[in-house]
Amino acid sequence: DTIRKNMDKDVNNVKNYQQAVDLLKSGEVVAFPTETVYGLGGIATSDAAVLKIYEAKGRPSDNPLIVHIGTIEEVEHYVTNISDQAKQCMAAFWPGPLTIICEVKENVLSTKVTAGLKTVGLRMPNHPVALGLLRALGEPIAAPSANRSGKPSPTEGIHVEEDLRGRIPLILDGGATGIGVESTVIDLTLQIPTILRPGGVTKDMIEAVIGPVNEPNHIEQQEGAPKAPGMKYKHYSPDAPVYLIEKNEAAIKEAIDKIHAQHKTVALLAPELYANEQADYFFSFGEDTQADMAAHLFQALRACDATTVDLVLATVTSLDGMGSAIMNRLEKAAGNQWFHAID
Ligand code: TXA
Ligand code: MG
Repeated sequence: DTIRKNMDKDVNNVKNYQQAVDLLKSGEVVAFPTETVYGLGGIATSDAAVLKIYEAKGRPSDNPLIVHIGTIEEVEHYVTNISDQAKQCMAAFWPGPLTIICEVKENVLSTKVTAGLKTVGLRMPNHPVALGLLRALGEPIAAPSANRSGKPSPTEGIHVEEDLRGRIPLILDGGATGIGVESTVIDLTLQIPTILRPGGVTKDMIEAVIGPVNEPNHIEQQEGAPKAPGMKYKHYSPDAPVYLIEKNEAAIKEAIDKIHAQHKTVALLAPELYANEQADYFFSFGEDTQADMAAHLFQALRACDATTVDLVLATVTSLDGMGSAIMNRLEKAAGNQWFHAID
């Protein structure tokens, strides 16, 4: 069965990582916290380990994985033709929530990590347990988010246990992750640097370091090639359908009344100040800030699955700053449906 090991104390003690290191070296997978979300890691040079990651998650293997490293010196082991822009981004944002797509070196990493692409995403996470593990291991770790495919990413050890209990041997539990949404993915192999996934490092922050960056609009941003139109935006989803709604008291009241008039039940996901609305369940986004919303978003979406509500209402935020990353996830969770669309 799955062991969940509390890492709160003594995070810098190499001995605390021995069990995880032994498992990883034997080709097993281990879940660990990062500053964004929990990752499900396997040694990135091992085909067998990487296959186990896809298997445990139930994820299609045509979606490439991020390679996590613990020191800047490792970069040149795995990628080649490293641009000045890439070096500048590494210096400015690592360790931190920025994944940089570079040209992959041949015959070093498992081809299952890159899903056959000529590029790979590298990142150095900013979390003491992730860094402790990487440095104790001395090998690159391929890791997607440690959720079952399609579910919200895990921001606490218990979320990983809910999704992967019995499917993986070990979870390193470092408490709540902090940022709460995944890293920004930027492709620096293109003519114009392009954000493939908005995240913890914003476009403005990157532009301050390397100049103009392209960020395709939300509808264009996809994880992998969508196969069916209906599948296109479904992701990060609780079992009940999610609908977006303006952060406006009158609009929220009207929506809840309308839903109750249809004899349906509803969970409201919104900042704490809306806790007294008459929804059947309320899951808080915390204070009315983007940082709090990012930190609480996945936990709130996940909490809906412990209820039997018919539908979920989630308040939106602006696209400024972290809002771009938050709305990217929320729009996917909702399949981009707004509440008024169902009446
Ligand atoms: O914050 C994070 O990035 C977390 C933690 C665990 O580090 N990881 C994470 O991994 O979110 P995952 O697998 O859930 O998302 C990886 C994203 C996917 O959208 C994938 O398509 C993209 O990065 N990606 C990875 N390698 C790529 C490549 N070579 N070219 C384009 N996109 C790539
Ligand atoms: Mg993921």
